[in-house]
Amino acid sequence: METMRWKEDGRLELLDQTGLPHEVVYLTCSSYQDVAGAIRRLAVRGAPAIGAAAAYGLVLAAEAIKEPAREDFLLRLQAAAGELAATRPTAVNLQWALDRLLQKLRSKPNEEVPALRAALLEEAHAVYREDVAGNVKIGNYGSELVPFGARILTHCNAGALATAGYGTALGVIRAAHGAGKQVIVYAGETRPLLQGTRLTAWELVQEGIPVTLITDNMAGYLMAREKVDLVLVGADRIAANGDVANKIGTYSLAVLAGKHGLPFYVAAPVSTVDLKLTSGAEIPIEERAPAEVTHLAGRALAPEGVRVWNPAFDVTPHRLVTAVITDRGVVYPPYRENLRKVAGK
Ligand code: MRU
Repeated sequence: METMRWKEDGRLELLDQTGLPHEVVYLTCSSYQDVAGAIRRLAVRGAPAIGAAAAYGLVLAAEAIKEPAREDFLLRLQAAAGELAATRPTAVNLQWALDRLLQKLRSKPNEEVPALRAALLEEAHAVYREDVAGNVKIGNYGSELVPFGARILTHCNAGALATAGYGTALGVIRAAHGAGKQVIVYAGETRPLLQGTRLTAWELVQEGIPVTLITDNMAGYLMAREKVDLVLVGADRIAANGDVANKIGTYSLAVLAGKHGLPFYVAAPVSTVDLKLTSGAEIPIEERAPAEVTHLAGRALAPEGVRVWNPAFDVTPHRLVTAVITDRGVVYPPYRENLRKVAGK
């Protein structure tokens, strides 16, 4: 199942993840505003996937700018990139992909608008292609860390749906499964929006990888009963010191893993590492609408008027992270030094 596909007629189709697993519907985006809306309401979600979608969104913005003068074109494109980047603040892949496309244009100071439009599309395709290839590498590096018969607890969805394809944490699981390691997976449901229940469980069931669904509050007891060998999650942003922002609930799993002496692995491409931020305290954490907490499947459960706190992500301190599995190899502490090396800085 493709997360997104670029159509020859110059439109982007996105698999609407809000309807999964029961409704498989592709949304057609004809403008960058359509893409921004889809990212905001999580029709497309997961750090690498929103990066690739935003890249195509910028291509759509460029198509719509009829301004023939290069400088005006670039100014308006920059504004569209700003709007796309503002849709979700935590995943750095979004800003990274947009910066990469804008940088491509800056590297062509003598090209006119039609050539710039073509260069943008080519670069968006490259972001998409490289993400899939990078995830396969993450899978292969990570699979080496997975013992035969491992029981793996994962959180949220860091699978094919969260990326251009194959997945990061689920990429490792796919690779280990493909290598005949007979892994079994525990998927945490991931309240409030149930990415574990709806997306991770769906991906794994489709692929025939044994998966058991648990609610988030079962993780501690699962570990206490010695039913887990390692925890494996994705990331939305990794600061220079190795602090990891990922779906809310990740931090609790890392603390529990530490308490039970279990390895806690994070799988993410190098594009998720943000060396500009010295620690996780600087990572902007998105807060979403109260209705995501008060309601379930559109039905109100909480009393009207109750106050709600709904951070979409949390930050796991680097000291709880056993290793970061990237597309350029496995990174161990000290993270400040080793993340910089792997990022080539
Ligand atoms: O709010 P979401 O569904 O976009 O959150 C996704 C996650 O937290 C993923 O774990 C992360 O983006 C990594 S995806 C490879």
